[in-house]
Amino acid sequence: MKIIVIGASGIIGSAVVKALAAKGHDVTGVHRKSDPPFDLQKPETLDAVFAKIGKVDAVVSCAGSGAFGKALEELTDQDLAFSVSDKLMGQVNVIRRSLKHLNDGGSITVTSGSLARSPMPKAAAISMINAGIEGFAIGAALDAPRGIRINAVAPPWIKETLEAFKMDATHGQSAADCAKTYVSVVEGKQQGQIIPTL
Ligand SMILES: NC(=O)c1ccc[n+]([C@@H]2O[C@H](COP(=O)([O-])OP(=O)(O)OC[C@H]3O[C@@H](n4cnc5c(N)ncnc54)[C@H](OP(=O)(O)O)[C@@H]3O)[C@@H](O)[C@H]2O)c1
Repeated sequence: MKIIVIGASGIIGSAVVKALAAKGHDVTGVHRKSDPPFDLQKPETLDAVFAKIGKVDAVVSCAGSGAFGKALEELTDQDLAFSVSDKLMGQVNVIRRSLKHLNDGGSITVTSGSLARSPMPKAAAISMINAGIEGFAIGAALDAPRGIRINAVAPPWIKETLEAFKMDATHGQSAADCAKTYVSVVEGKQQGQIIPTL
């Protein structure tokens, strides 16, 4: 399959690119510093990516940030606006803008995260946008034309991320294991599902 992976230079995205390529897929990775670049905050930049590589069979998004590490009373209007515009609306627009560039029966896989349903202190903005992505993905799947599948993958904490944050990584999932779920969704039949990676 011909596949675009957004966030391809990241901890999860790079593992997804590696896992998909190992299965023989033709993978193009994009992010803000790729050529052409793609920025979730500038949805129109996805058009240049499709103009370069043409129609694809799958789009996988492993990108998007939000405000993390701030208690409720510390969260600013700007924190919330950034969270919504980057990870939530960024991926909503990936779904919307990718549709016409997908072959029949193709798929779009976006990323939420376990904080949507398993909250932790100082992460309410992340819980909000993850839940929003999941809601949009399962709703959008009902409307998707031409057999196109739309799903959200919801990773737990990733081992490499916990290590980078100097947090206890004992129960983290490796990025390589997490990537196996993305591969199964791209190659599988799931439609309108929220898929944990554990
Ligand atoms: N790691 C975890 O523990 C974990 C757990 C649950 C969910 N998630 C979610 O999984 C996704 C990927 O996480 P990660 O840990 O792999 O992140 P990461 O290591 O920080 O990598 C993020 C990737 O996305 C790109 N990116 C960042 N902002 C972007 C933007 N505005 N537009 C386009 N590309 C952008 C980055 O490249 P450039 O900077 O060059 O653009 C990079 O390729 C995130 O949505 C995160 O919330 C992660």
